[in-house]
Amino acid sequence: MLLHFILSLYTLPFTTLQDSNTSAIAKPNCPTHCGNVTVPYPFGIGKDTGCSLDDSFYVTCNSSYKPPKLFLGSTDDNIEIYSISESEFRIHNEFANRCYNRNGTISEDYDWSIELSAFTFSEKNKFTVLGCDDYSIISGRNDGGEFSSACMGVCSKAQDVAENGQCPGVGCCQTSIPKGLDYYSITLNSFQNHTGVWSFNRCGFAFVGEEGTFVFQGTNDLSLEGGVWERIDATVPVVVDWVIARDTRNCSEPSACKENSSCYVVEGGGYRCRCNNGYEGNPYLDPGCQDINECNDPGTHPCYGDCKNTPGSYNCTCPSGSFGDAKIENGCQHPNNSKSSSSIFIIAMVFGLLAVLSGILGIFYCIRRRKVMKLREKFFEKNGGLLLKEKIKSQGSHDAMTLFSIAQLRKASNNYSQENIIGRGAFGVVYKGVLSDKREVAIKKSIIVDESQAEQFINEVFILTQVIHRNVVKLLGCCLEEEIPVLVYEFISNNTRFHHIHSRLGGMSWLSWENRLRVAVEAAGALAYLHSETIMPIIHRDVKSTNILLDDNYTIKISDFGASRLIPLDHEHVTTLVKGTLGYLDPEYFNTSQLTEKSDVYSFGVVLDELITGKKVISADRSNDEKNIATYFVNSVTENRLHEIIEPRILDEGTLEQIQGVADLVKKCLNLQGCDRPTMKEVVLELGNLRKSTAHPWIQQQTFEETRSVAHEVGQCDIFEFSVVTSGYGKMGC
Ligand SMILES: *[C@@H]1O[C@H](CO)[C@@H](O)[C@H](O)[C@H]1NC(C)=O
Ligand SMILES: *[C@@H]1O[C@H](CO)[C@@H](O)[C@H](O)[C@H]1NC(C)=O
Ligand SMILES: *[C@@H]1O[C@H](CO)[C@@H](O)[C@H](O)[C@H]1NC(C)=O
Ligand SMILES: *[C@@H]1O[C@H](CO)[C@@H](O)[C@H](O)[C@H]1NC(C)=O
Ligand SMILES: *[C@@H]1O[C@H](CO)[C@@H](O)[C@H](O)[C@H]1NC(C)=O
Ligand SMILES: *[C@@H]1O[C@H](CO)[C@@H](O)[C@H](O)[C@H]1NC(C)=O
Ligand SMILES: *[C@@H]1O[C@H](CO)[C@@H](O)[C@H](O)[C@H]1NC(C)=O
Ligand SMILES: *[C@@H]1O[C@H](CO)[C@@H](O)[C@H](O)[C@H]1NC(C)=O
Repeated sequence: MLLHFILSLYTLPFTTLQDSNTSAIAKPNCPTHCGNVTVPYPFGIGKDTGCSLDDSFYVTCNSSYKPPKLFLGSTDDNIEIYSISESEFRIHNEFANRCYNRNGTISEDYDWSIELSAFTFSEKNKFTVLGCDDYSIISGRNDGGEFSSACMGVCSKAQDVAENGQCPGVGCCQTSIPKGLDYYSITLNSFQNHTGVWSFNRCGFAFVGEEGTFVFQGTNDLSLEGGVWERIDATVPVVVDWVIARDTRNCSEPSACKENSSCYVVEGGGYRCRCNNGYEGNPYLDPGCQDINECNDPGTHPCYGDCKNTPGSYNCTCPSGSFGDAKIENGCQHPNNSKSSSSIFIIAMVFGLLAVLSGILGIFYCIRRRKVMKLREKFFEKNGGLLLKEKIKSQGSHDAMTLFSIAQLRKASNNYSQENIIGRGAFGVVYKGVLSDKREVAIKKSIIVDESQAEQFINEVFILTQVIHRNVVKLLGCCLEEEIPVLVYEFISNNTRFHHIHSRLGGMSWLSWENRLRVAVEAAGALAYLHSETIMPIIHRDVKSTNILLDDNYTIKISDFGASRLIPLDHEHVTTLVKGTLGYLDPEYFNTSQLTEKSDVYSFGVVLDELITGKKVISADRSNDEKNIATYFVNSVTENRLHEIIEPRILDEGTLEQIQGVADLVKKCLNLQGCDRPTMKEVVLELGNLRKSTAHPWIQQQTFEETRSVAHEVGQCDIFEFSVVTSGYGKMGC
């Protein structure tokens, strides 16, 4: 039995292979392929060679290309064919585009039109327009007469543009085209010559292409950085319907369809031939369609008994001596007789053995399971589960916090599979997960907690679930049954961190001066909120650019509270273990282990520094004492070399006052003495004013001066007194 099964598996591919070439693809002595494109009759390679049905089906294979390219008509007609199927072929795409200079004059203008006299463009195509200040008109012609339609892409800010591949009209517009067009032309226009959107969108595009092949990549595509031209060129074909004799409405030449095929009329004119059921091959060529040997193809034509091929069908019957439906598995039944009783005995034996074995396994499993359950309970207790449960109960906030079970999270993360890993940090590994209610979450296995810290851990988890701020990644819950507590956060799908400043792909175009200021203001706002508006101040402790995420709507989300600490108002806070990331770590905290909110301010200063210089935080390319971006920056400012280190794009887009303002702020944040640094609130205030000054240049000077003097006063601190700081926390030291 088994041997037979294996044998039939092995013989299968060969028989199907043999089968497929019995019917002809092209006329005798005519080439069937051009490169890897199959050319079936009625198409034929070469003019006047007799290979094609008529001149409209004549194609050229140009082998001076490697691999050879197939063209409809001659090479000069320049319509490259990618593939040909029973009723369609796919051709190379061209698009219309129009690009503008900063001053609104046109730098490049290319309209597009194409005409196919014998064939028509398929309904499967869509008309797509890309741009933030563009509308495009497509006009064409079909049976019904002239057709025209328009689509417009409008947006005013880069962050309005969706990135999810859809074309909702913001930056990308898509519409259908009617059936039967044999001609279309595309022209592009702009409402305001791109003057309002030039910083992130300089060109408008419009093209017709197969539905589903173009996936909009948002601002990447609008800025041309993602290689949108090349992508359309390589992956978006135009689908063309082909028919024979488009100008007649019937099967005008029934003899065109060979044996065992039939003719059918195509809506819009013309006809095609189709093999009858159970036959395959080329219906336009002698000897016509061939019978399919279904018995050689058990995949689509299953047979569990004796299979016999018949013309156009097959006969599948139960082996002699049995009855039933052989086309379904175990569909044949043997009538009871002496011969089969021995096999029943063997089957019973096997089942008996299996039962005993599974019994033994079952007992082992139960013992193991009980052990595991005990362990889980232990972990739950050790991790402060009871405490947390009590807290949740006393606060009555069930929504805010979910206690997940091990099983739930294992299932969600595919048993913590490697493929689900979306991040790795000093404090743990982050997995992507999908809960049973389809919610996407980020699951973080982190921080080793010993029993003495359980209470604090629970406090922290609990407080974090109360942190509700649009710029802070929300903690949904946790799982305490594992040895190491597991945290579950909302999932930020885009995962574009703004460390993309350093990766030249994609991120660059979005990071305009305006967007950078927004990132800075939002991130600073979130930190200020953590420092001063939560029940107990929270110090993040690991502020860095990779912990600042951007979601689908380009909203900033501060993440990674693995290291963060609550600061009880009435306690001194000396941490035993200095945590943070090299380059961002506050040197004062490093030296004294004295943790204050000002450590976050320092780290934020480094982030801000990155944001305006676009330089790496630690770089071996810089000289010894300037390897660290903070030192490098402060030295540059002191030596009046600011313009040398600011990213050129920012010098273009920002005003001098703004850049100077941010640089001053960075310098203040990077002050070696914590109490000389501004608070996050002051940082927010100053950044907010700097940001506004683009919109209202006339008030700029005034507000700028004001905030400056305020910041200066607050930052006044001459002697750093350890004793004072330990008696309270944060600002009290200054
Ligand atoms: C099928 O292919 C074999 C070898 O590849 C060839 O010898 C044979 O002539 C082909 N049969 C037909 C009907 O084209
Ligand atoms: C033909 O070959 C090219 C590359 O050589 C490949 O990209 C394409 O998918 C192939 N087409 C088919 C129909 O196999
Ligand atoms: C093939 O293409 C090349 C380049 O476009 C052209 O010069 C040549 O004439 C073409 N050959 C044929 C046979 O059409
Ligand atoms: C607009 O800018 C382009 C290139 O930047 C320049 O060639 C052109 O002369 C400018 N036109 C006007 C009217 O300023
Ligand atoms: C756009 O440019 C055209 C010609 O270059 C000009 O006639 C028109 O006034 C401009 N429109 C706007 C809104 O700038
Ligand atoms: C098909 O239609 C044409 C006119 O449209 C007519 O002359 C011809 O006789 C028709 N043929 C058949 C087979 O009906
Ligand atoms: C076409 O099918 C009929 C019956 O379905 C069969 O008798 C005939 O041989 C077939 N012709 C070819 C060429 O396979
Ligand atoms: C299928 O086979 C059975 C038994 O061999 C026979 O009675 C029946 O007529 C066959 N059916 C066809 C369509 O050949």
